[in-house]
Amino acid sequence: MASLEQTWGHERLVASAYDFAVHNPLVRRIGAFALWGLDARLLMDYIARLRETTAGSRVLDVPCGGGLAFASLQPNHALDYVAFDFSPVMLERAQQSAQQLGLKGIQFQQGDVGALPYEAQQFDLCQCYNGLHCFPDPQKAIQEMARVLKVGGTLRTTLVVKGAGTRYDAMICLFQWRGWFGPTCTRAALEGWLKDANLKLTDHQQSGALWMFEAVKQTPTP
Ligand SMILES: C[S@@+](CC[C@H](N)C(=O)[O-])C[C@H]1O[C@@H](n2cnc3c(N)ncnc32)[C@H](O)[C@@H]1O
Repeated sequence: MASLEQTWGHERLVASAYDFAVHNPLVRRIGAFALWGLDARLLMDYIARLRETTAGSRVLDVPCGGGLAFASLQPNHALDYVAFDFSPVMLERAQQSAQQLGLKGIQFQQGDVGALPYEAQQFDLCQCYNGLHCFPDPQKAIQEMARVLKVGGTLRTTLVVKGAGTRYDAMICLFQWRGWFGPTCTRAALEGWLKDANLKLTDHQQSGALWMFEAVKQTPTP
């Protein structure tokens, strides 16, 4: 089966089909519930928290995919926004989407979340929607996102976790075999990684197999 790199980096059909599905409200709602028992309205409400972000904030959206997260912004948003993804296909779709929505001031950057090309403490908010279960090394991704966050900055994330039910775990195995998912993790493992990365869990909820959480970067202990 295809590797993660092959799937997300080069399989235009997979990337395009996924992106079409998440941007279409009806397909998204039916698909999310059928696959993961998720109420997609909760996911979209969660993503829409972006609108409450203070003007001038620096935001990292990784992985941006085809631009699901910034679709909740108004054209006159005043954020310093970086949309980052491994996949050139996704970035192309995200750029088209930003253009259609009339969103200006979004920078697009291709790269690997495991080696973010930024200095430490650059961002006020890091959004990571539906990415951690696709990354080859989710713990490394958490470390990198924590590194580039300012102290007091927020990591806002959603992911499919292991251990939410036999049916969902079987689906995760199928997606891993197909090369769509990486190793992913349980909630308990992730909570440990957050602690190790000096991130304090401040808010969370679960719908089906999707865990949604916010964590705030703490002052490093001397
Ligand atoms: C399921 S999609 C989620 C995209 C978007 N956040 C959304 O919710 O629609 C997973 C994304 O992770 C990206 N990705 C996979 N591995 C990556 C990596 N190592 N670094 C950055 N992005 C990666 C893929 O290209 C894909 O766009």
